[in-house]
Amino acid sequence: MDRNNPAKAVKAAVETAAEKVTDVLTPDVPGAPGSAPPTVDEPTTPHDPLPPKKEQGTPETRTPTGAETGVPPTAKGQQGAYLTTSQGARLRDTDHSLKAGPRGPILLQDHHFREKITHFDHERIPERVVHARGTGAHGVFTGYGTAETLTRAGFLKKGRETQVFVRFSTVLGSRGSADTVRDTRGFATKFYTDEGTFDLVANNMPVFFIQDAIKFPDIIHAGKPHPDREIPQAQSAHDTFWDFVSLHTEAQHHTMWNMSDRGIPRSYRTMEGFGVHTFRLVNDAGETVLVKFHWKPKLGVHSLVWEEAQLINGVDPDFHRRDLYDAIEAGAYPEWELGIQVFPDTPEETFAGIDLLDPTKIVPEELAPVQPIGRLVLNRTPTNFFAETEQVAFHVGHLPPGIDVTNDPLLQGRLFSYVDTQLTRLGGPNFSQIPVNRPHAPVNDMLRDGFHQHAVHAGVAPYRPNSLDGGNPFPAGDRENAFVDVPVTVAEAPKVRAAPASFDDHYSQVRLFWLSMSPVEREHIIRAYTFELGKCYRQEIRERQLRCLANIDPVLCAQVAAGLGLPAPEPTVPLADVQPSPALSQLGREWPADGRMVGIVVDPDGDLEDVAQVRMAVFSAGMVPLLIGPHGGAVRGTPVQRSFATARSVEFDAILLAGAPAPAPDALPARDAKAGAAGSETVDPRVLLLVEEAWRHAKAIGAWGAGAEVLRQAGVAGTPGVVSGDSGGDVLADVQSLMAAHRVWQRFPASVG
Ligand code: HEM
Repeated sequence: MDRNNPAKAVKAAVETAAEKVTDVLTPDVPGAPGSAPPTVDEPTTPHDPLPPKKEQGTPETRTPTGAETGVPPTAKGQQGAYLTTSQGARLRDTDHSLKAGPRGPILLQDHHFREKITHFDHERIPERVVHARGTGAHGVFTGYGTAETLTRAGFLKKGRETQVFVRFSTVLGSRGSADTVRDTRGFATKFYTDEGTFDLVANNMPVFFIQDAIKFPDIIHAGKPHPDREIPQAQSAHDTFWDFVSLHTEAQHHTMWNMSDRGIPRSYRTMEGFGVHTFRLVNDAGETVLVKFHWKPKLGVHSLVWEEAQLINGVDPDFHRRDLYDAIEAGAYPEWELGIQVFPDTPEETFAGIDLLDPTKIVPEELAPVQPIGRLVLNRTPTNFFAETEQVAFHVGHLPPGIDVTNDPLLQGRLFSYVDTQLTRLGGPNFSQIPVNRPHAPVNDMLRDGFHQHAVHAGVAPYRPNSLDGGNPFPAGDRENAFVDVPVTVAEAPKVRAAPASFDDHYSQVRLFWLSMSPVEREHIIRAYTFELGKCYRQEIRERQLRCLANIDPVLCAQVAAGLGLPAPEPTVPLADVQPSPALSQLGREWPADGRMVGIVVDPDGDLEDVAQVRMAVFSAGMVPLLIGPHGGAVRGTPVQRSFATARSVEFDAILLAGAPAPAPDALPARDAKAGAAGSETVDPRVLLLVEEAWRHAKAIGAWGAGAEVLRQAGVAGTPGVVSGDSGGDVLADVQSLMAAHRVWQRFPASVG
């Protein structure tokens, strides 16, 4: 499609779609379970397991030690047409336990019963201690070659393709918690390079709460639910979180990011990713540079608004998970560019006065531009959530030759923590042999035995030096591409529990972030602080956090204080004189709308042929149309995916009204509480609610024909971002142009400059 002119592209798509409209093979909306439609009656003819869905992938079929097997990916799943025991013996009956007579007790000898129940009893493993809630996808990374002079890492060479698995996550919530909570998001990528696995274990925020890993249990204990009542789930809006961050002021920068729109992403596809720490690259000549890693999403950085996020948590707690899978199934493959900020590797490890070892600091992109070094495309969903997404194990110490760590004290601690926690979570030391964790490089270690050993190691001498195995394995030298521990000089120094003085500045970059925001983003930040602190019980904690805000900005502090009904304190440190970084704002640019959801309200008395054309045009523009009718099933032969009872505005990025449907028979407050929200004789009240909410959340709205009447009754006609016209095609073109800016920002008049 023509990215520079979405309106033109949509018009063209409408014209093409009009020719195809009689085609019965119109695309399906993504999300249907199973790779084949089920029959109404229970199937009785034995056959092999169905193949995975077309968009599903699995880890490559490698041996536990990294060799290619050549067997098809489905060989990893169940085989044959018949039910068997775990040992492959066919079974006649799995619905009745073996009993002493039809009314008698179960016999201990019922090995099938015992195997089935015992295995079930042990299906759960401990969830991750942090980042428990997440979702993943397979993809491919292609190097641009632009980093070739900086690093010897082969996967960054021009055109080199590397398989990847990515897991996105929230930090605080349990495995079953909702997706759209206010929180930091994890963005962990496993590159299966042929020189060893590289894990870039990143977040969607470039700074962290703490400067030293020894504080990690403290921040997590403070953010997790209170230990007495175990509430609130997956929230930072509670006393222990604010108690900690207001006392431990190095957390203020990360906290501001969480309170900004970055804390509530619209989609994993619209998040940036940041390696946070400074890493060290080393090239063939042994020369080094310091770098920070960035992921830049093709769709731009885009967030929810807070009310929308809260509603989604109830309406669709799996919103981000569904969004990722649906986008891949629809062929709207999520894409990011990997980039690096590059700094000279000087003994001070600073750049423009910023300490590169302090993970609470960024280097503004205006000072060190992000240079693209490769492209990531996610193109396969997992076939089995547990086997892949739940069992994947990332570790910041998984580095290929050419990438090394620095002395950032947070990174240093992480190097210990990941394997340590995975030993418990994945039940022993052999989790790198789980299919999703298997390297794609030959493995010849001297690690042996342990729970769940899958490799069948040969030889008698897993030690070095040896002669009994002919000396194998041999250490590799530079010419055999051995990993390089860069021989950085470590200054002779007293052994201390201390941080450098440069780590003491806790406010200047928080102010930098605040000053870099657009007025509407500042409004959202004020609202977020006010909401979160308003949820605390203890006045003392609110007052203490206001003291921190006073050191960031007087307007921010005064506005939050007003919302809390408290006086605004004076700053205790001079306000930093900082240069804003416009790159930190999410607003002001235009982006493609791939995989966005468009709700189309269908009027049973309207022109359904026009609706069919618009639906095809939405597909052709790379988005997903969901038709919303007065009841489920089909409306005059046109299948609908949502009814007025099941649809809610928060599912959609834009609403199109193909008519003004009259109240449906179930539009009774007694049957559907949403119907009580508005009173109209002529338009279904749930449609009015849909439009009012979409308007309030600054989404584009379009109507044609009788649809204009809905705009009038909802009181939104003629307002910014609301378009009407004679044909669906024209209106869709206008709506898509509006969507390029993500939201209709003029609908949020800002009170702060
Ligand atoms: C810049 C700071 C940090 C970032 C960007 C970060 C990122 C992440 C991400 C993305 C995950 C989820 C991995 C997955 O999807 O499986 C994760 C998990 C985890 N992180 Fe961190 N983290 C940071 C700091 C720390 C620190 C300081 C520690 C401990 C000292 C830590 C310990 C853990 C643990 C224990 C897990 C669970 C791993 C598992 O069970 O597989 N993290 N982290």
